[in-house]
Amino acid sequence: RTGVTRIPVVVHVVFKTAAQNIADSQVQSQIEVLTNDFRKRNADLNRIPAAFQPLSGDARVEFALATTDPAGNASNGITRTQTNVNAFSDDDAVKHAASGGADAWPPGQYLNMWVCQLGGGLLGYAQFPGGAADTDGVVVLHSAFGTNGTAAAPFNLGRTATHEVGHWLNLRHIWGDDGGGCNGDDFVTDTPNQADANTGKPAFPLISCHNGPNGDMFMNYMDYTDDDSMFMFSAGQVERMQACLDGDRAGLGT
Ligand code: ARG
Ligand code: ZN
Ligand code: CA
Repeated sequence: RTGVTRIPVVVHVVFKTAAQNIADSQVQSQIEVLTNDFRKRNADLNRIPAAFQPLSGDARVEFALATTDPAGNASNGITRTQTNVNAFSDDDAVKHAASGGADAWPPGQYLNMWVCQLGGGLLGYAQFPGGAADTDGVVVLHSAFGTNGTAAAPFNLGRTATHEVGHWLNLRHIWGDDGGGCNGDDFVTDTPNQADANTGKPAFPLISCHNGPNGDMFMNYMDYTDDDSMFMFSAGQVERMQACLDGDRAGLGT
C-alpha cells in the first residue's frame, strides 16, 4: 500500500498505586513519540550515522487515541483499572479483567496498549500478528512509557512502545535472536547481520559478524540500546510492516 495508515489506540492503564495511575499527559506523550518515530519525524533523526541514513525509512503509520469505544460511545481512548496485582509478567494476566487486568478492545479496530507495573526488569512485550484476539497488542512498563510523569531514564523517550509496536507489526529483533551467533535472521535484507543484542549507548561503528565497515545498526528501534541511542527503522523493516498492514492486520486503521 501507499500513503499513511492512521491507527486508533486504546491505552489500558492498570494500576495498584496512585503513581502507577499515570496522567493523560503521559499517555499523550507516548502517542506523539509513536507517530514521530513511525513517520521519521523524530527529533534525533540527525544522529543516524551517514552510512545508514540512506537506509532509514518512513514507516507511514500514525497513531491517535481512540475517540469511540467498542460500543460506539465517545471515549478519550484511555481506560483505568485498579488492581491488587503488585507486578505483572509476560503471562498476559494484565490483558484480562478476571486476572486483575483489563480486557482487550476488538483488535481488528484498535491497537491495544496496556501500561502497568512489570516485574523482573521487563520493559515491555508484544504479540506478533496472527495470534489470539483477546491477547493482541503490546504491554509496557509505566516507567518506560511516554516522556513525562513516571517515565525514568534511560527508558524515558517512549522507545519501548516503538520497539513493541514494531513487533506487533511483525518485526523481529535485528540480531536475529540466535543467542549471539551470525546465522539468525530478522527476515529483512537491509539490516546488517548482527551477532547479539546491543545495550546502553554504543559508539559507531560497532562491528560483529564480519559486518564492517559500518557494523551493527545498533541505533535501530529493534535493537536493545537505550532510548536515546535508537532512532531509526530501515526501509526493509518498513516494507515488512506495510506487508503486515496489507496482510494479517488488513482492515485496521484508515
Ligand atoms: N522487550 C524489550 C525488553 O523488555 C524492550 C526493549 C526496549 N528498549 C528500549 N530502549 N526501550 O527488554
Ligand atoms: Zn523485542
Ligand atoms: Ca545474530
